[in-house]
Amino acid sequence: MSIEEKVIDESIQGQATMVENKSGSGKKLYLESYGCQMNFSDSEIIASILSENGYATTRNVDEADVILMNTCSIRENAEQRVRNKLSQHNKRKKQNPGLVIGILGCMAERLKKDLLEQEKLVDLVAGPDAYRDLPNLISDVGGGQKAVNVLLSREETYADISPVRLDKGGVTAFISIMRGCDNMCSFCVVPFTRGRERSRDPESIVQEAKDLFERGYREVTLLGQNVDSYRWNITKKGEIIDPEKEVVNFAMLLEKVALVNPLLRVRFSTSHPKDMTDDVLITMAKHRNICDYIHLPVQSGNNEVLKRMNRGYSVEWYKDRLDAIRRIIPEAFISTDIITGFCGETEEQHQDTMELMKYAKYEFAYMFFYSERPKTLAERKFEDDIPEDIKKRRLNEVQELQVELSFDAHKRTIGKVCEVLIEGLSKRSEDFLVGRNSQNLTVILPRENHKPGDYVNVLIEDCTSATATGVVVND
Ligand code: SAH
Ligand code: SF4
Ligand code: F3S
Repeated sequence: MSIEEKVIDESIQGQATMVENKSGSGKKLYLESYGCQMNFSDSEIIASILSENGYATTRNVDEADVILMNTCSIRENAEQRVRNKLSQHNKRKKQNPGLVIGILGCMAERLKKDLLEQEKLVDLVAGPDAYRDLPNLISDVGGGQKAVNVLLSREETYADISPVRLDKGGVTAFISIMRGCDNMCSFCVVPFTRGRERSRDPESIVQEAKDLFERGYREVTLLGQNVDSYRWNITKKGEIIDPEKEVVNFAMLLEKVALVNPLLRVRFSTSHPKDMTDDVLITMAKHRNICDYIHLPVQSGNNEVLKRMNRGYSVEWYKDRLDAIRRIIPEAFISTDIITGFCGETEEQHQDTMELMKYAKYEFAYMFFYSERPKTLAERKFEDDIPEDIKKRRLNEVQELQVELSFDAHKRTIGKVCEVLIEGLSKRSEDFLVGRNSQNLTVILPRENHKPGDYVNVLIEDCTSATATGVVVND
């Protein structure tokens, strides 16, 4: 992921986004997004729905008529950050009583009416499947009512809504291919906040990729909580729903999107180790424009812990998947997610995680200490018994190890030439550009006459544990 995408990690500070409205009626919306890529992608759907209804977004919160916060519940501190921000917004409301404040996304779904009734912090609450109802909800608030819609759906995929692209770069975009999650990992709140898993019509996905390419975009990332269980026209048990229609699994979808244009790069997130098939890897190897990068969250390197986490795979299985990646796509970079201090984790089990990290030679990792979430399986079944200082010390240890592993992975690229898609100006200097190679390594290069959206061949000359630098060759 680029530096920019790494910023779009869970529980970062909110990002405000801006888009013109379509009717010019002049109502101003301040839309703030927290959480995962899925939430940022949803914000583009929200902006689209509201722009059709006359709302222009603004980056200046002081001129807003409506403030919407698209929130995340994944860890306690993600929610705390939203609450802090919410109380700041509430101070604005004292000066401007007509201001509408709404909570959307995962926290809205988790806390439902509590946010309105007990905490009295907001006027509007809308869950992830209720965004089509936002114009009505906002007008209910205008009429003096509190508005709430947290109904989860088994069908909603917003397939027909053309997202308003909020990323200013115009080179890379997210495409949601499915919603919800059926996995019930014991630590995770997502199945409760996002509901049942459902896949989006492949035609609408391919069409969205085509539209993006025509508008100059050069990279799409297909998004789902578990992309490997994408399925169209076939049930989980393998029964075909409509014999007249095509059956599409994730490998097939990936191929369809790759065929849109060889100049359109394709990425995806997140793969689940229990479901990732060789089929997907073979499809990746077959198409040059499917990037050589896999995010394969492991969470822990110990079988007992994985069992308590209800992840559905063993360390041996996970290593077999790593070996398959190395065999089929030898150049691939692999990244992961790790949780330290899960219920009952011993010092030895923590060491097992570090051993697995070394085996995998991860290029990047998102690392967290365990945060108990209400209603999850782990909250009901296990004691959150690892003291916070130990959770944090273990987190420090995995972070330090990861810095070494990242640096090692990047050092192996020095002296090699790779193709980089330029995304924008480097944050440090206007004389440099930033882009990524197929393996998702962030590469900084001299600006010269290149521009965002260009592909260039770069000789890697130097690196840190976060990025590489190089010069353009033979173009
Ligand atoms: N669907 C993705 C993960 C989505 S949540 C997958 O299955 O891989 C992103 C990451 O947040 C998870 O991979 C996990 O590492 C972390 N996470 C989820 N719940 C957590 C919790 N209760 N405490 C700490 N980290 C958590
Ligand atoms: Fe959460 Fe597991 Fe689903 Fe990922 S796969 S969203 S960790 S329940
Ligand atoms: Fe957070 Fe919801 Fe994503 S809990 S990580 S915003 S699915």
